[in-house]
Amino acid sequence: MRVIAVTSGKGGVGKTNFTVNLALALAETGKRIIILDGDLGLANVDIAFGLTARYTIEHIISGEKTIEQILLTGPRGIGIIPGGSGVQALANVDRDKLTNVLTNLGRLEDMTDILIIDTGAGLGHTVTNFLRAADDIILVTTPEPTALIDAYGLLKALKSEAIEVPIHVVTNRVRTEADALATFKRLETAVHKFLDGSLDFMGWIYDDPNVGRSVMQQEPLGISFPTSPAYKCIQWIAGTVAGIYQRPPRQAGGVRNFLSKLLRSL
Ligand SMILES: Nc1ncnc2c1ncn2[C@@H]1O[C@H](COP(=O)(O)OP(=O)(O)O)[C@@H](O)[C@H]1O
Ligand SMILES: [Mg+2]
Repeated sequence: MRVIAVTSGKGGVGKTNFTVNLALALAETGKRIIILDGDLGLANVDIAFGLTARYTIEHIISGEKTIEQILLTGPRGIGIIPGGSGVQALANVDRDKLTNVLTNLGRLEDMTDILIIDTGAGLGHTVTNFLRAADDIILVTTPEPTALIDAYGLLKALKSEAIEVPIHVVTNRVRTEADALATFKRLETAVHKFLDGSLDFMGWIYDDPNVGRSVMQQEPLGISFPTSPAYKCIQWIAGTVAGIYQRPPRQAGGVRNFLSKLLRSL
């Protein structure tokens, strides 16, 4: 199992839309996908699928529920783990409750090929811990100067915390391919110059009114508008992700490695 964390500097740039539809596009290629809704402020992956979470990770920590009991099932067998306030609670989990978390989340290993985490925006500790524990980070930004400045701020923080997970950039809400490349270049130039780092360009997503329509309908784009320009872009990115994961992992992967890193950093 591999773990991808989807993040951004600024909120509202399209992380959740991307996460949900990347999951659908990867599921189309036969991968088994679970999404962890890790946004503390605005956990809305369930809503994007037209589902309602009754239980969250909090119920696992407390021992009231098992992973199987809190897991929601979306289209194409996609699993959704509602994080809710449980995501924060993970940071303060007692020793005696740690076993609950480890055994339950450990069972994910047999259920999934890729765990995608929709993290919150910004630089909170919960976010950076998820990022540190992931195999890959996908940073979503838009061409807006504010989104780019916040994306840079996040990259700078990752650098200062010595987080060395590969970072792939997706530029969302672009008008043209040239617009997408120019946006990426702006970020890459700053990262190269001031952080002495490098970034990988993973792809772009067109600004597309179908995205807003699918949000209103509470049905993911890949289901309601599978031939829309924005979903086609996400399918293309999914192809790249599947390609990366054809290669053997850089390190001992899987849930156990993820959890040990996540919990060690807490
Ligand atoms: N490619 C796009 N084209 C048009 N609108 C988009 C696109 N991506 C996101 N949006 C709009 O932006 C809003 C915020 O997206 P969301 O995925 O919830 O952002 P985040 O999870 O980063 O806060 C959504 O309501 C959606 O309508
Ligand atoms: Mg979101």
